[in-house]
Amino acid sequence: MTTHEAASTVFAVSGSLRSASLNSRLLDEVQKLAPGNIKFDVFDGLANLPHFNEDQEFPAPQTVQDLRSRVQNADGILIATPEYSASIPGALKNAIDWLSRAYDGAPLPLAGKPTAIIGASQGPLGSVRAQLTLRQILHKVDAAVVRQPEFLLPTAHVQLESGLAEDSASAQILRAILAELQVLIKA
Ligand SMILES: Cc1cc2nc3c(=O)[nH]c(=O)nc-3n(C[C@H](O)[C@H](O)[C@H](O)COP(=O)(O)O)c2cc1C
Repeated sequence: MTTHEAASTVFAVSGSLRSASLNSRLLDEVQKLAPGNIKFDVFDGLANLPHFNEDQEFPAPQTVQDLRSRVQNADGILIATPEYSASIPGALKNAIDWLSRAYDGAPLPLAGKPTAIIGASQGPLGSVRAQLTLRQILHKVDAAVVRQPEFLLPTAHVQLESGLAEDSASAQILRAILAELQVLIKA
């Protein structure tokens, strides 16, 4: 990937709220190995979103309006999800629920939006069940999801201890996912 190609903005969100989140650290690693023509807009407002409530949609709370406009302005999305009880964390689902609805005559926020999924966990499953669930949810909201390659990081507390080596298999897969995301963005 050459850096003279048009720059894209990727809205990046970790599904974890905790400060020592491995998924947030994984997003840090992705930013380090990404090509120069991807600019990341990292969202740290998941904890500030109220629970989705149809009674509060119009007008939506300011935190939701901020989320909507950042997603609308992004060319693509990258989600790093933990696995909670064999699914995705409620906070992440809540954000997607807010983004699943039309507002102000704008198109559905996630419809056709190029989106890539990754995930890390301390256990051996590496977030696989969370990613399957997330894929299904994103299918329903009509996002354009990167199919291949897939990236899961088991025993992430060990693997991320000193960061991902630039030439590691993990780094190569993550670069390939970003490249696929850029293909969808250009399409
Ligand atoms: C409420 C809760 C439920 C969890 N359920 C699962 C699970 O079903 N499968 C799994 O592999 N790990 C599970 N874990 C472990 C998390 O995947 C692990 O703590 C991971 O590091 C969380 O992501 P984070 O580091 O980004 O916060 C669970 C953790 C919590 C706090």
